[in-house]
Amino acid sequence: MTRRILVTAALPYANGSIHIGHLVEYIQTDIWVRFQKLRGNDCIYCCADDTHGTPIMIRARQEGIDPETLIARMSKEHQRDFAGFEIAFDSYYSTHSEENRRLSETIFQRLRDAGHITTRDVEQAYCETDKMFLPDRFIRGTCPKCGAENQYGDNCDKCHATYTPVDLKDARCSVCGGPPVRRASKHYFFKLGDFGPWLQEWVSQGHVHEQVANKLNEWFGQGLRDWDISRDAPYFGFLIPGETDKYLYVWLDAPIGYMASTMNYCRQHGRKFEDYWCDRRTEIHHFIGKDITYFHALFWPAMLKGSGFNTPTSLTIHGFLTVNGEKMSKSKGTFISAATYLKHLDPQYLRYYYACKLGPGTEDIEVNLDDLAARVNSDLIGNLANLASRSAPMVRKKLDGRLGRLSTEGRERVALLQKEETVIAQAYEERRYADVVRRICSLADEVNRYYDRRKPWSAIKDNPEHARETLTTGLNAVRILTIYLKPILPGFSAKIERMLQTPPPAWSDVQTALEEHEIGEFERLVERVEPERIQAMVEDSKQTQDQPATTGGGPLTDEPPAEEIDFETFAKVDMRVARVMVAEHVEGADKLLRLELDIGGQKRQVFAGIRKAYKPEELVGRLVIIAANLKPRKMRFGVSEGMVLAAGPGGEDVFVLSVDDGAQPGQRVH
Ligand code: MSP
Ligand code: ZN
Repeated sequence: MTRRILVTAALPYANGSIHIGHLVEYIQTDIWVRFQKLRGNDCIYCCADDTHGTPIMIRARQEGIDPETLIARMSKEHQRDFAGFEIAFDSYYSTHSEENRRLSETIFQRLRDAGHITTRDVEQAYCETDKMFLPDRFIRGTCPKCGAENQYGDNCDKCHATYTPVDLKDARCSVCGGPPVRRASKHYFFKLGDFGPWLQEWVSQGHVHEQVANKLNEWFGQGLRDWDISRDAPYFGFLIPGETDKYLYVWLDAPIGYMASTMNYCRQHGRKFEDYWCDRRTEIHHFIGKDITYFHALFWPAMLKGSGFNTPTSLTIHGFLTVNGEKMSKSKGTFISAATYLKHLDPQYLRYYYACKLGPGTEDIEVNLDDLAARVNSDLIGNLANLASRSAPMVRKKLDGRLGRLSTEGRERVALLQKEETVIAQAYEERRYADVVRRICSLADEVNRYYDRRKPWSAIKDNPEHARETLTTGLNAVRILTIYLKPILPGFSAKIERMLQTPPPAWSDVQTALEEHEIGEFERLVERVEPERIQAMVEDSKQTQDQPATTGGGPLTDEPPAEEIDFETFAKVDMRVARVMVAEHVEGADKLLRLELDIGGQKRQVFAGIRKAYKPEELVGRLVIIAANLKPRKMRFGVSEGMVLAAGPGGEDVFVLSVDDGAQPGQRVH
């Protein structure tokens, strides 16, 4: 029986770019969806940008644009990045949509009518300059416990104490730097406790992995508190029905975005929304990271239950990405954006490597870049791709491109591969992708060994039919393995299908065989990972993070200002007038220009991230300002001895500070 299945991945925030940490989730989900489709199930993958909330409002304000303009740009960027990794959504929508507004209002009203919503006054930090209530992340001050300066309003980085912004000493608004005041206003609360017994029952029914169930039981033990679901104006979001200056908190409308995205899909494909969210036979599977468990395992099922919609069939909760043993780090170049990755490496490497690492649990996913190269080169290329590349060209060139019939031995070999079908399907179904890859690799390994015994490359000379027998078995094995692998490597599999001249397969096609069949041209499947390319990607990630002003293209973050420095520290920067003597492109770096500068008799080489903003010839001869006492930095292309001062939003809009009239090279400026 075909199953009707709706799958979602968490909705990425519209104020940040997609990075390889996010990709753990979107790839994990994509693999599962592709598997379900291959099995013939009626499965769709819905996602959207999560667009509301204070950080997005503030960032748009800082860029001097409407939030709508900002989120439209980010949505395009996100979709481009996802497509680059062969992540195939059936609907990619936005929480800032009419559908989402209507659904959010409906759910709010149903919950209120059923008595699950209450109101009361709350006192909060308010900035009189910015005329807004400040979320915890927008307040900085001294930790009341340990005295560390410049800590967020909710917890301390140094001593890990948690508190409320009211406890913070000398609190500051991180938008304007002024001191907030305390102000009371009416807030709406969702009475989560009303759903306590139902949620406990739900958790015990196996909708979540046992590791998650344990965590949730801890939370039940601590009691379920009311959840504050309103925010005062100014806010970028949906107004609360019946209010004129109070909005639904972003985390209320965000998961409803799953429904809005489904609605978008249904409109485009002539399907019925109710089939997904009201028909109990439909399965709903959410994939998320462990940081947002509380929202998805408690608030969300309770909201759905309370408003009469289907509740989730399962939550798959993954851990966080660590690179080379640590959290992704901007300074080490391991905070790698999807776009930077794609400039240097084949997306198939990452899909394959993540699959090797993924299981159903919430453990962190450890990525080691050397290991990635080794695994891809030895297993994916040396084992799997090798099997195809040592078979197909020989059949084409020496055997008229024709497969023969399977011999008895060949048939037995093929049967061994076919027998694994249920085991591999089960592993996919249970999100045990590491097991899937292990099985596929060991099957391929065996076929490679069979080749080594039968040596078709020597048999071809004096006993071509012996070779044809071997290669017919081999290519049947390739075909089956490729079907098994297809959810993980769709592009790779599609190339093999073209070569075999077979239509896109269904999972059950593994039980058939290709005999007396003509094959086509062999295309190269995947290139070896070159360690230098990985190195270049890491360097490139450092560049974009270290010099946001001059590298361009890097979007602003919602991070509040960095640690304060005093004037003396700032004054230590020795700024000098410099004349640009040489400006040229740098091979392999599409953001950088190499400049040779004259700072009054002394020559300096500087790499500046302004290639998108200036043609080299526009700069030669001009007088610019450089930070002359910056420690020289070794880059991939050479040593950079200083930094040219430039600023702007990024990309083409970066402006070099220039002092073309009357200044002298070497002259100090302030
Ligand atoms: N907007 C919310 C989700 C709303 S869902 C109704 C959000 N967005 S996010 O952009 O911060 O994260 C999107 C997903 O990516 C989350 O599931 C999150 O756990 C996951 N990851 C973000 N960074 C990650 C890593 N470094 N490693 C693994 N997953 C990560 O949360
Ligand atoms: Zn302020």
